[in-house]
Amino acid sequence: MTIDSDNDGKIIESWFKNAAPWIVAIAERQIESRNLITDRSIVDAVVSRGGKTVLDLGCGEGWLTRALVDRGMNVVGTDTIPALIDRASTMGAGEFEVATYAEIAAGKLAKKFDVVVANFSLIGKESVEGLCRSMPSLLTDRGTFIVQTLHPTIANGDLPYIDGWRASSWDGFSDEFTDPAPWYFRTLATWIELYTANGLSLIEICEPIHPQTGQPVSVILIGGLSG
Ligand SMILES: C[S@@+](CC[C@H](N)C(=O)[O-])C[C@H]1O[C@@H](n2cnc3c(N)ncnc32)[C@H](O)[C@@H]1O
Repeated sequence: MTIDSDNDGKIIESWFKNAAPWIVAIAERQIESRNLITDRSIVDAVVSRGGKTVLDLGCGEGWLTRALVDRGMNVVGTDTIPALIDRASTMGAGEFEVATYAEIAAGKLAKKFDVVVANFSLIGKESVEGLCRSMPSLLTDRGTFIVQTLHPTIANGDLPYIDGWRASSWDGFSDEFTDPAPWYFRTLATWIELYTANGLSLIEICEPIHPQTGQPVSVILIGGLSG
């Protein structure tokens, strides 16, 4: 697909249009891989760090924030879509704020967290790179940054294994979803580079496996401030 400097903006436009069906999809537990493995994996990864304060970036309708609050953590969930933040606020505990990654990178939250987590929410290019550059300013001294994303070797399909913008689709989702946004594919090496280039050492990489296919569904990267 051609490189378009506004692809990061198209991601946000798409989520404005798809907030309502997304809320239904999560409420009705329509995404099988989440039910089978990835929800539990990201909760376990955050809990394993033993932190008290958590920032849930791109929290959507807030299920992960709620799950972590239930485990005794103080959690702030942020998302750029007001309808998702409204839903999150009405669904339960946790503190929620409308914010883009660019605003967070520019210091909007003015807080540090023991854990910053992004669950399938780092989709773009410049927006994600800017956010990762700001990560040291969002983390407490022993804080960790945890990302769950589609496993690159599986999400790659048959295309050459190189970074770049890809078209997406809502295949497997309800007909209510429209206007799928482009997404920026990163190889595993590039994900690791996003950590190391921004002063974060990799502590652990987990590869949750689909219990029926035996294939990796996602990758979870856990890193913390070096030195
Ligand atoms: C696939 S959903 C995941 C939501 C949630 N983390 C979950 O696990 O259900 C991706 C989320 O990222 C948010 N998002 C994408 N780009 C964003 C940006 N630049 N700034 C803030 N939120 C963004 C979207 O609004 C959407 O809620």
